[in-house]
Amino acid sequence: MTVPARGFSLLRGRLGRVPALGRSTAPPVRAPGGPRSAFRGFRSSGVRHEAIIISGTEMAKHIQKEIKQGVESWISLGNRRPHLSIILVGDNPASKTYVRNKIRAASAVGICSELILKPKDVSQEELLDITDQLNMDPRVSGILVQLPLPDHVDERTICNGISPEKDVDGFHIINIGRLCLDQHSLIPATASAVWEIITRTGIQTFGKNVVVAGRSKNVGMPIAMLLHTDGEHERPGGDATVTIAHRYTPKEQLKIHTQLADIIIVAAAVKKKAGFITPVPGGVGPMTVAMLLKNTLLAAKKIIY
Ligand code: GUN
Repeated sequence: MTVPARGFSLLRGRLGRVPALGRSTAPPVRAPGGPRSAFRGFRSSGVRHEAIIISGTEMAKHIQKEIKQGVESWISLGNRRPHLSIILVGDNPASKTYVRNKIRAASAVGICSELILKPKDVSQEELLDITDQLNMDPRVSGILVQLPLPDHVDERTICNGISPEKDVDGFHIINIGRLCLDQHSLIPATASAVWEIITRTGIQTFGKNVVVAGRSKNVGMPIAMLLHTDGEHERPGGDATVTIAHRYTPKEQLKIHTQLADIIIVAAAVKKKAGFITPVPGGVGPMTVAMLLKNTLLAAKKIIY
């Protein structure tokens, strides 16, 4: 994720220390869903036009501490410890790593988890039987089926087989529908991660131009949804003007859109031109895991449903 650089004064202005010198001629207005506390996990070389690195790792640690406290106070009130059930199908090495990271992070914040391993030839019916059982199990607060699934299994059917109130990935049709209607919902973790990185860093989105590269239903679409929607709705949005670019966006059009953009959400390196940038690794990845844990606590507390 990047925020284009316009010299140091702008960078500082965006953090609220000096007036912003951005392109927008509109007077500065407080973003309704705007920054809460400015995050301080920055690394800067001090060189003009060198991007400030926003440490997702540091921010995720901070959020995990908040979640841990939330879990402890929830349990101290006599409630059951939040429990995350993860279903992993097959032996995709990347999926195994993601799942291992999720289990380790859950344990670090006091959320218990279980891993249900299934071979890659598992039937769709068996997976739906498992999600049905987990849906009915009062011990289980959150359910996650690691994607991708083998070709013979329909991902949408499986995502819709998880109860919306236990759908900590936010992929159920009801959670996606509520997100699109600006209602409270369990929000896909990567989109939440991008939102938290922007707002906790103190980057303004109100009236700004944003380019989101990618229109996937699990990442690009929900990010665009959070950023363009009304800051005063039930689930406050960023009030930005959002352009979603995708594989059929002509290169010359993409160039124009990105030149106009105040914020670019993209998995690519633009360090020389960016004011803020999240690194890989240590950027959106750890934040996504932290937001998944936050969803698990929300699900346990039945705050959304
Ligand atoms: N595979 C890659 N990212 C994700 C994610 O956020 N959730 C699930 N369930 N699978 C994934």
